[in-house]
Formats: sequence, C-alpha cells, structure tokens
Amino acid sequence: MSTQAKGLEALVKEEGRRGDSTRVVAITSGKGGVGKSTLAANLAYELSGMGFKVGIMDADIGLANLDVIFNVRAEKNILHVLKGEAGFREIVVPIEPNLWLIPGESGDEILKFSDATIVSRFLDEAQALENLDFLLIDTGAGIGESIQMFLRAADEVVVVTVPDPAAITDAYAMIKVISKSRDHVYLVVNQVKNAREGEKIFETIERVARSNIDSAFKLELLGTVREDAYVARSVKQRALVCKELANIAPAGDIRAVARSLGGKKERKMLDREQSGIGGFFKRLLGGL
Ligand SMILES: Nc1ncnc2c1ncn2[C@@H]1O[C@H](COP(=O)(O)OP(=O)(O)OP(=O)(O)O)[C@@H](O)[C@H]1O
Ligand SMILES: [Mg+2]
Repeated sequence: MSTQAKGLEALVKEEGRRGDSTRVVAITSGKGGVGKSTLAANLAYELSGMGFKVGIMDADIGLANLDVIFNVRAEKNILHVLKGEAGFREIVVPIEPNLWLIPGESGDEILKFSDATIVSRFLDEAQALENLDFLLIDTGAGIGESIQMFLRAADEVVVVTVPDPAAITDAYAMIKVISKSRDHVYLVVNQVKNAREGEKIFETIERVARSNIDSAFKLELLGTVREDAYVARSVKQRALVCKELANIAPAGDIRAVARSLGGKKERKMLDREQSGIGGFFKRLLGGL
C-alpha cells in the first residue's frame, strides 16, 4: 500500500478519535501577513502530536500557501470536489500520521457553487472527513463577505494580530464585524517581544470591545507567540517550525496555544443542530 493510501486509511478509521464531533476552527485576521498560515500549520502539527486527528484547509491563497509551508504538492483542491471532478479522498494530502491537508481555494471561488445537487453530492463526499477532531481553516484577511461566511459557519474563530498599530486597529474592526454573528472570539498576538507585550495588546483591544460591543460578547486571549527571525527563514526553507526547530521560542509558544485549544471544551452555539463537518459545509454552502 502506498504511503498516501495508508495515510488515508487512518483518516477514515473511526478509532483513535478523541472528541464527539469535529471542531471547525477558522483562523483569520484584520490585516494580512500577520502569521495566520504559519500559526495554522504549526498549530495543526502540534494538535496532531497531542493525538487529535486534524485536518487543515486553506480558504485563501496568501503569501505562503499551506502546501508551501508543508512542502507538499497539491494537484487538486476542494473546487475539483465541488465541481464533481474528484472525490475528497483524492485531494486530501497526508502530512503526518494524524494530520491531513485539504487543499482549498479562495472563499470567493468556493462560494460560487450553490447548486443544490452539487452541494448535496459534496456533503456526501465530505463525510470522509467526519472522523477529524479538528478542522482548521486558514482564511484570508479582512472583513470581506466570503471570509465572513467562513467565520459564521465555523464553530470557533481565532483572530491573529501583531503589535503593529495598523494591525491592531484592523483586528479590532474584524472582531467588531464578527461580534454581530457570534459571542466569542479567541485572540492570538503573534510576533511579540514577550508575553507581556501580547497581554497588553489583548487588554487594549478588550477594553475597546467592552465599551463598544454587546456585553454578552467575550474576547479571550488564546496565547501569544514570540517573534524569531528563524520563523520566516524556515518558511523559505520549507521546514515546519514546530517540527524542525521545536526548541525555539515561537515553537514553544504555539505548542502552548495548541494545548490551550485542545484542552478547552468545545464551544458550540446552542441553536446549532448541525455539528461537525457536515454542519459546517451546510452552513457555508447554504449561505447562512
Ligand atoms: N512569530 C514569528 N516570528 C517571525 N516571523 C514570523 C512569525 N510568524 C510569522 N512570521 C513570518 O511572517 C510572514 C507572514 O506570515 P504568514 O504567511 O503566516 O502570514 P499570513 O497572515 O498567513 O499572510 P497572508 O495574509 O498573506 O495569508 C512570513 O514570512 C512568516 O514566516
Ligand atoms: Mg496566509
């Protein structure tokens, strides 16, 4: 059996799962280039190392695509599945024993497909992914509608920012838009000098949120990730930081973010009957 076939067999096997249904976590930002893809890829790697079955999908083609970060070649992507040109199992790329890349497309492209028969076939196909504990989605930056559709469909949202004032302003603008459809958002402050710097930024954003957003809304600091020139270098060398440079500060910080996310109880909206992957894609493609 080929390595890919073996990798896929593990994906469709029920055994080894930790949770009841897949937690779909969207990773987004107000400003671009703040480290979403880097965080998503390394977070996925760390969660898989903790024993979770993890899928990671890109809903945006940004600076560094996930296939570049993982140093794999993705021939087909989710659009081929939506068009009926490939099955899910053909596009999924096994990365690690518990980690699979689901090559994506920009949200605009994905959301063009709303034909009922296409969507229902796609949802049948998507059942191949129901055994995942986590599906991380690397979305684009900004408050554009196609990104918001992913965020509304996800179970949990992580907003990433960096200490630069423009990024903080954009992160807040993003959080304000998201708060119209959900009452909880995680924040990760990337490229900080130390944890305290990240905590202060969180406190500033939280203060503004508290005085301008409904009191039921909760912004929660999921973690801070330190800056290290090796991170950018490792992306250029196609090496995953948490795997190849596991001892540097940002790798340890991302590990802590993974532990924090993995240890939290699933946050589901109460009125959501549809959980897991099927529910996610139904919400997304149904244009909820
Ligand atoms: N903690 C860090 N320390 C140093 N460099 C970092 C860190 N995190 C990310 N970077 C670097 O910042 C750059 C942008 O990161 P990345 O591509 O992950 O951002 P992004 O938010 O996904 O961008 P886009 O909006 O274009 O998709 C990359 O060169 C990456 O290596
Ligand atoms: Mg990116």
